[in-house]
Order: sequence, then C-alpha cells, then structure tokens
Amino acid sequence: RASGDPAFAELQPWMQELGDPVDAAPYGMPSEFEAHVQRKTVYWLTADPISSINFTPLHELDGIITPNGLCFERHHAGAAHVDPALHRLMINGLVDRELVFTMEDLLRFPRENHVYFLECAANSGMEWRGAQLNGCQFTHGMIHNVMYTGIPLRLLLAEAGVQTAGKWLLAEGADASGMTRSIPMEKALDDCLVAFKMNGEALRVEQGYPLRLVVPGWEGNMWVKWLRRLEVGDQPWHHREETSKYTDLLADGSARRFTWEMDAKSVITNPSPQAPLTHGPGPTVLTGLAWSGRGTIPRVDVTLDGGKNWHKARMSGPSLTKSLHRFYFEFDWNGQPLLLQSRAHDSTGYVQPTKDQLRAVRGTNSIYHNNGIQTWHVSKTGEAENVEIS
Ligand code: MTE
Ligand code: CO
Repeated sequence: RASGDPAFAELQPWMQELGDPVDAAPYGMPSEFEAHVQRKTVYWLTADPISSINFTPLHELDGIITPNGLCFERHHAGAAHVDPALHRLMINGLVDRELVFTMEDLLRFPRENHVYFLECAANSGMEWRGAQLNGCQFTHGMIHNVMYTGIPLRLLLAEAGVQTAGKWLLAEGADASGMTRSIPMEKALDDCLVAFKMNGEALRVEQGYPLRLVVPGWEGNMWVKWLRRLEVGDQPWHHREETSKYTDLLADGSARRFTWEMDAKSVITNPSPQAPLTHGPGPTVLTGLAWSGRGTIPRVDVTLDGGKNWHKARMSGPSLTKSLHRFYFEFDWNGQPLLLQSRAHDSTGYVQPTKDQLRAVRGTNSIYHNNGIQTWHVSKTGEAENVEIS
C-alpha cells in the first residue's frame, strides 16, 4: 500500500531542505505537530484563573513519567516567580537550633532520587454525583508523576534538632497565598523530601521553583510549593486547608479529617472521550494508569463489557512505590459498543471500589478522595463518553 501512498511516494519539503542548526532551540520544545498536547483548565470550575487548576493531558502520554511542561498546576494565589538568591528555608519552633538555609546551604546536604505521583485530593471530585466531564484529562488529570531530586526532610530536621515534644510540622509556602499544612512528624521523618529538581531539571515555576515539599502518597495539597518555613510544634495547627478544605463531609453531617493517604485508583487513558477509536474493528491497544498512596500496583483488571468479564491487564514499566503504573490490554475490537473499566489492586491487598460502593460509605457531599471505578462507553463509531453504570 505504501507505494501508492503520496505521503510516502512524493518528496516532502524536509527531504529537500537542510534542517535547523544545532542551538536553534537551546532549551528544546516539542515538535510543532504536537501543539495540541496541552494542559487545559475548565473555566466554570473556579471563579478566576489565578486561584485555579488545570489538568494533565493523560490521554496524550505514555509510560509513567509526566513531562515537566505538562504537569497539572494548582495555585491558590498564582504561580510565584521566586528569585533563588533571595529564597530562604527556615526551621523554627520546638527545635534545639532555629536555622535559616540559603539554596547554596541546601545543596551541600546528601540528596536522593525518587519517582512519586502527586494527586490533588480534588481529582475526580466533580464526579461524586454522576458522570460529568468528558475526558480523562478532566476526570483524572489532577495528577503528575515525576522523578524528584531532594534532601530527605529528616536530615534537615536532625540538623535543627527536633525536641521530644515536637510531634507535628507546619509547612509554609512563599507565594501570596501563605499556604500552610500540618504534617505528622512520623511522616516527615519517614519519606518526605525537600526537592529542588524534577525529572533532572530545576523545578518549574508552576511546581514551586526553587523548592517544594514532597509528601509521597499523600494528598497534593500537603506538597507545599515555594517552601520557605517548617515549624515544629506539639499539635496540628488546624489551618484553613485542613479544616474547611480537604475534609470529607459525610451524609450524616460529620466530616472525615486528616485523610492524607491517596487510595488506590486507576483510569483507562486510551480509548477515552478525547482519544476515540478511529481505526475501526480489529487490533486495538487499550492503555491506562494505576496508582496507590500505600505502595505499588501488582495488578490491574480491565473489562470491555461493564464488568461482566474481567481480564488481567499487562503491566509495563517500573513498579515503584507511590508512583504511577502503566497497564495495557490488547484486544480485537469487533466493532460493537464497549463499556470500559479498569480496577486497581494495590500491594496492601486493597481493591479499587465502584462509585456506588464508595457512595454507600461516603455519601455524595464530598469533593475530595473520589477513587471510584471510571466507565467509558465506546460507540460503534469509536467515540467514547463518560458514563456510569450500576
Ligand atoms: N503550595 C503553595 N505554596 N501554594 C499552593 O497554592 N497548592 C497545593 C500544593 N501546594 C499550593 C501548594 C495543591 S492544592 C496541590 S494539588 C499541589 O500543590 C499542586 O501541585 P502542582 O501545581 O505541582 O500540580
Ligand atoms: Co490540590
């Protein structure tokens, strides 16, 4: 077929002209043919674009790493442009020595590399009362997965000397939102990082340049960006982001608080509403992502018929704790409508619930921590739509 295909048979301009010289783009950008691959916001979700959110285009990506320029953004007071020469990190409160570090000081501590997902607790939050947004970018795109280079937080705390009464840590950002979160000392001493690099390069402005807190497996709100201060205390502070926000209102009017760990979850990224099947019946690649704030994902199940038959998906790529996992399921599409779902199993034995199972326990007042199974309906023409089945 190739010989009759003009795309192959005819000379293209790029076969007849010299290409760009080296250094045409000293800090490279993707091909101009990838211009449609973009973070996107949903305008009606927030009152203004400064305290707002946009979404990672999960349906355009593969593997497990999110490219830095496509990591979703969530800012409470816009993305701050912080001069690293004027940036300081203070440790104060119940410590033997109150300390203030420059960026140069921090670069003299031992550092580690780890891949972790960051998921906003509000990811899928618009779906509590039924299928709403058409696209995995919008239903599941408040997530990114990055290799961080950073200093184990425990090393910085040891430098300051945490006193016996010091059981909590308050992390504060340098942006105009003055965002703060209380973190239990156990977690701070376990696997938290003070990171300055993402995927090998400096943190992006949008991700908290020059310094951010990494709180593996826990809700994104705790990953304070533009990190400027860590206060050691004997109890949580009960600030805005851990009282009126980031708590889960239950049906009986009581609220779940301090729900930090992100439950196991998965989504089929292709096919999906923004990535329909365009090739007709025959060999078809289904792929998606799965993750858990409590460990790894040894197994993902996939159904093509709304849960009547489940198949084991093929995992491919590194299986790292608190990181995205990539799964595939190749099948021969018969051209009939499909009801696609994926179901994650994590290394603790936990199995991702259906949305109805979740609502039975949590009601529908919640915004945060919706990890229910997602359904895509694929029509005979290959278009996909966000639906719910019971
Ligand atoms: N840190 C500061 N200083 N200011 C913020 O607005 N937003 C939080 C958290 N850390 C925020 C912050 C929220 S709600 C989330 S989900 C994550 O950062 C988003 O991180 P990202 O912008 O890298 O995706
Ligand atoms: Co958030």
